[in-house]
Amino acid sequence: MAARLTLEHVNLRFGGVKVLEDVGFEVQPGEVFGLVGPNGAGKTSLFNCISGHYRPSSGSIRIDEQEVLATAPWRLSRLGLARTFQHPALQLHATVLENVMLGAHPRLRGGPVSWSLRVPPTGKDERSLRADALELLDRFGLGWAAMRTPDEMSHGLHKGIELCRAMLLQPRLLLLDEPAAGLPHSEVDGFIDQVRRMRSDFDITIVIVEHHMGLISALTDRVVVLDHGRKLMEGTASQAQADARVIEAYIGKDAADDAA
Ligand SMILES: Nc1ncnc2c1ncn2[C@@H]1O[C@H](COP(=O)(O)OP(=O)(O)OP(=O)(O)O)[C@@H](O)[C@H]1O
Ligand SMILES: [Mg+2]
Repeated sequence: MAARLTLEHVNLRFGGVKVLEDVGFEVQPGEVFGLVGPNGAGKTSLFNCISGHYRPSSGSIRIDEQEVLATAPWRLSRLGLARTFQHPALQLHATVLENVMLGAHPRLRGGPVSWSLRVPPTGKDERSLRADALELLDRFGLGWAAMRTPDEMSHGLHKGIELCRAMLLQPRLLLLDEPAAGLPHSEVDGFIDQVRRMRSDFDITIVIVEHHMGLISALTDRVVVLDHGRKLMEGTASQAQADARVIEAYIGKDAADDAA
């Protein structure tokens, strides 16, 4: 079942620097939700808090009723969380297929693994995991690359490999950090279709960080705009694009003054 994500009063500091200040919003089960804002706004840091890579100084982050801040980061996949990274770190000399299986592979052995993969404990072995990985690669148009290595592939393809890796965990909540960065313009529409199909085929909640506003408008039900670590507004993508505070945050006050 798709997960609900709830953030309340999330604060994150590094030394004296406030990276996130009092951020709160709720993503409903099954929503495709956008997290947007200028460079340095705190989007990736917020994802890092949700995925347990960063620990907020205060606040609450819940996946359904479960408090993320009270959960060991490695247990978060049990709550149904998977993510991709702004800068994918792939094993460049392993095959694409091995890279996709990497996230799920170590978990095959332990007890919680089958639970986190939501398969019967005895039903799924490495072979069927491999079959699932191949199916995902096919689904995302990367079947041709399964036995190749990512070292000579583009950033856009690395993003696709990472997406397959995350989907192999069968997440209920998926965080995508700039999934279309590095995709040629001509492939962005294909990516939009893929996410739409993910939404219709899987019971999943998706949060997307992306600078490509066409993609955000096409895919998201609602967005939150962050600026300097604060929530500037929450609404639809078109409301955000028409919001004077958002426009100023993007073009900068100096530029706005110059233009005036
Ligand atoms: N580990 C860290 N230590 C110190 N400062 C950090 C750390 N991680 C992030 N920051 C700071 O937090 C702020 C927000 O960075 P973040 O990467 O979250 O922004 P972003 O919205 O994802 O930007 P972009 O669109 O460029 O990816 C920046 O000023 C960054 O330098
Ligand atoms: Mg970022």
